[in-house]
Amino acid sequence: MALWSGRFTENVSEFTQRFGASLPVDKALYAQDIAGSKAHARMLGARGVISPDDVDLIVSGLDRIQARIESGEFVFDINDEDIHMSVEKALIADIGEAGARLHTGRSRNDQVVTDTRLFAKTRCTDLMAANVALRQALVDAAKRHFDVILPGYTHMQHAQPVFLPHHLLAYAWMFARDFKRLAAARDAADVCPLGSAALAGTTYPLDRSMTASELGFGGITANSLDAVSDRDFLLDLSYAASVSCVHLSRLSEELVLWSTSEFGFITLSDAFSTGSSIMPQKKNPDFAELIRGKTGRVVGDLVALLVTLKSLPLAYNKDLQEDKEGMIDAARTLEDCYSCMTGMISTMTVNEDAMSTQVNKGYLAATDVADYLAKKGLPFRRAHEVVGHLVLLCDERSCDLEDLSLEDFKAESDLFEEDIIEALDARSIADARITEGGTGREAIRKQLVLVEDSLAADCSSL
Ligand code: ARG
Repeated sequence: MALWSGRFTENVSEFTQRFGASLPVDKALYAQDIAGSKAHARMLGARGVISPDDVDLIVSGLDRIQARIESGEFVFDINDEDIHMSVEKALIADIGEAGARLHTGRSRNDQVVTDTRLFAKTRCTDLMAANVALRQALVDAAKRHFDVILPGYTHMQHAQPVFLPHHLLAYAWMFARDFKRLAAARDAADVCPLGSAALAGTTYPLDRSMTASELGFGGITANSLDAVSDRDFLLDLSYAASVSCVHLSRLSEELVLWSTSEFGFITLSDAFSTGSSIMPQKKNPDFAELIRGKTGRVVGDLVALLVTLKSLPLAYNKDLQEDKEGMIDAARTLEDCYSCMTGMISTMTVNEDAMSTQVNKGYLAATDVADYLAKKGLPFRRAHEVVGHLVLLCDERSCDLEDLSLEDFKAESDLFEEDIIEALDARSIADARITEGGTGREAIRKQLVLVEDSLAADCSSL
């Protein structure tokens, strides 16, 4: 019989018992549940609601249960509805009457959301640590390949030359913003609902602040109805995880593309590639593809929670039991994706020649040739047209701008002089982008300082 079975004369069917249970999912929250119960018991003792002896029995009993769970000796009873029931039942079986006093002034409604908030806080911190590791790997790679040049793209067409560190650091900034979102989700979870009881608060003289500070929460919730039904902090975590997965999927897509025979820009290490069971020559970027694919599930977790919460009346409704599975999954998936990406970035080989060969295709110097003319007084729109003609000429000759002679240039505009030839050099073109946030190496050096500052600041807030 369940711990709440007093007013029942019949047991639920085996099926409904299984259908209604959340134990298979929420047993992952055992440590938070036990921590919450210990803090609640100590507070009840401090307020004289239960005796000091009962507090000691409860706390040591809960410690024993935790040790048994962690050693694998604890056998979860599949007939228990959830982790709260499992732990409380085991406690009563162990210490008797004192255990039966633990649930004084508490409901599973405030208990479950306390556990979930504690769990979410820990997982946010884990994710923030994994996020920092990935950003560090990107910064290290940016420094390792500081002078490597490659085409920058718009519309997937060659646009202007950029340095590889600039490209890599673009991702470091995306992940830096994700860190902030994860930190905000952790802050959102950092409020203690314990003491809200079932929905309306309780008649016992609880010290809510004591429980909250014992559990390391930054404060207490202000409205009991809101407290037991609010899962916004999980939405925040799921959203942060979704956005970061979207960023990971964009990076993955580039790694997949860059490791094709057509691009050949990078070679992923064997440790992050797989073979084919039929085609002996294959080396597939499976893990980048998997990260790209897992994004769908994580975004699905967010959407599932949004829809579960939609139209829920106050206060607790059993629908809320559906809140944990997606959050646990999203956090685990993102953490794994971060580690996998960190490994992939740290071990990939950059094929400098393949990148720089492509820089010489597709008229990447065209904008700069137009700027050259504009700086000599030709209106930019006119200059644009002149270079358009030069590109047409190259198309006819199947060559690039670098292959044209000074005479070819002069035939289009007499503003062209000898120095146009060196103005076509891809590195000089890229290096000339010296504005803050530009791809010139001078600007990238400054950007690296900013990236490393943000990494150091984020490390210290873990
Ligand atoms: N297993 C439940 C959940 O995850 C715990 C709260 C149950 N409360 C209740 N009144 N049935 O939401």
